[in-house]
Formats: sequence, C-alpha cells, structure tokens
Amino acid sequence: MPYVRTIIHDGHPTLRKTAKRVRPDEIADPLFQQLIDDMFVTMYAAPGIGLAAPQIDVSKRIFTIDLHDDDPEHGPFVVINPKLVEARGEAEAAEGCLSVPGYVGEMKRYESVAVTGVDRAGKKIRLEGEGLFARCLQHEIDHLNGVLYIDKARDVHLAREEEEQLEEVAPAPEAESVG
Ligand code: CO
Repeated sequence: MPYVRTIIHDGHPTLRKTAKRVRPDEIADPLFQQLIDDMFVTMYAAPGIGLAAPQIDVSKRIFTIDLHDDDPEHGPFVVINPKLVEARGEAEAAEGCLSVPGYVGEMKRYESVAVTGVDRAGKKIRLEGEGLFARCLQHEIDHLNGVLYIDKARDVHLAREEEEQLEEVAPAPEAESVG
C-alpha cells in the first residue's frame, strides 16, 4: 500500500544534490513502483500539484505532476529522467514550494515548454504546455538539479493568508491568467 512520505525542507542536503538518473532496469522494480505510488499520495496529501523525488529524500530523477483540475490533459503524470527539450517566452508569476513552507515569491520562467522522459512503464513520453503547467514542469526539473525557486525568485516573503494556497507552484489569485 502506498503511504505518505515526509517532505523535507530547505536546509536538508538532499534538496541541494543533483539527483541520479534512473536506470531503465530499475523502473520495473516493485520498490521503484512503490516510490511512484508514494510520491502521488504524498503530493495529494500535501496538497500539491507537483512533487520531485528529492523532496522526499530520494535523490533520483523523477517527479509527479497533476494539474488535472485545470485541464484534463495535464495529469496525473510521472516523469522519469525528464529533459527540457523546448522552451519559449517568459512569464513571471507567484510561486511556492512544499519544501519552503509558508513562503512565496515572484519567479520568472519560460512561458511554454516541452519535456521528454519515460513513464512508469518505461515508455517514452512528451509533455508540453504553457502557463502554470509549464511553470510546474520547470519547478520540478529544478528540484532534480538541486535548485529551489527561492534561489532565483524576487520578493520572497512569508505568505499572507490569501497566498497560502500557493504552496508548490500554485498561482496567486491575481495571477490566474498566467496559470
Ligand atoms: Co518545490
């Protein structure tokens, strides 16, 4: 049975490591499949719209994302060994992170991106999108490279009550058009 793992916070060394590529033969391992299930339940329990494995202290190149509520084609997905293959435009919007609880900041990202990788069956996948979906994809890939949004964002501040829902990349109410 999948279970909710502990999300680690800024200051924990695992968040600053470059996560290791997943070997193709690792994917079918029941423990690896369990990791994927655990990441989904941990992400939903937080609640968040994305979660990278380093956030649960597993230094592997894998993330989950689910923006199904915004667009039925935007999840749920798990991406193993993701690679940013296209990036266009620029957009700044409010962003938060489950590993930096309570804070939000204004973060510049590509407006639209395409990401390739493999799914839990080891099949090649390609995700593309814009706005919040693109923002979340970039945020999660950053996690795999030891980068937190607070490294690059401006105006990082304690979330006001109306911003608390921002955790893990959700848009500010006034930034909804970006999402
Ligand atoms: Co994050």
